[in-house]
Amino acid sequence: MAPRIIAIDGPSAAGKGTLARRLAAHFHLPYLDTGLLYRAVGRRVLDAGGNPADRAAALAAARALRPEDLDRADLRGPEADEAASLVAAQQAVRDELLDFQRRFGAERGAVLDGRDIGTVVFPDADVKLFVTASQQERARRRCLEFEAKGMLRPFADVAAELAARDERDVRRLAAPAKKAADAVELDTTDQDADAVFAAALALIGQR
Ligand code: DC
Repeated sequence: MAPRIIAIDGPSAAGKGTLARRLAAHFHLPYLDTGLLYRAVGRRVLDAGGNPADRAAALAAARALRPEDLDRADLRGPEADEAASLVAAQQAVRDELLDFQRRFGAERGAVLDGRDIGTVVFPDADVKLFVTASQQERARRRCLEFEAKGMLRPFADVAAELAARDERDVRRLAAPAKKAADAVELDTTDQDADAVFAAALALIGQR
């Protein structure tokens, strides 16, 4: 039977989004990049001239979030990365966004990617994948993403930012980023998108 909920977690730039989009198309499921929720909350705080680490400001922004905020063109880039990571560390913000994620999946099933999908948002997901890659490789991919948007950034800076944010995601008390006990790990360091997709399909087929 085709899966209804596919949960994909893992650190930044490991290939979660690419895999999630392909699985969603394959199984005719809607796709939600849950990182965009935190990015859009961070962006709203910045727009209002606030500090994303300020709990009252972050919670107000999470409450004001509208689905169309996820379509904004300015949700990626160093400033948005940092703001998202700061608001994502706050339990009140996470609580506020939980309902939207669960309702998104409940209607027609979904593929969701993030940090806590298999542990918190959908602990009963049909499929749980934990997508990883080496830190070097993830920083290399993030540099290429920036480059594609015309932002040439030193590798060392990108690698340091990535490591700092991942560290914050893993160490925070609120839904720390971690592999669910029943998730299957896919290491994409030496695999291209086609190989990762094929491996995921094989795993899903074995369920
Ligand atoms: O996946 P991303 O880089 O777009 O995520 C942006 C930030 O939000 C990152 O710091 C991790 C955090 N995040 C989270 O805490 N929980 C999620 N389900 C998705 C993202």
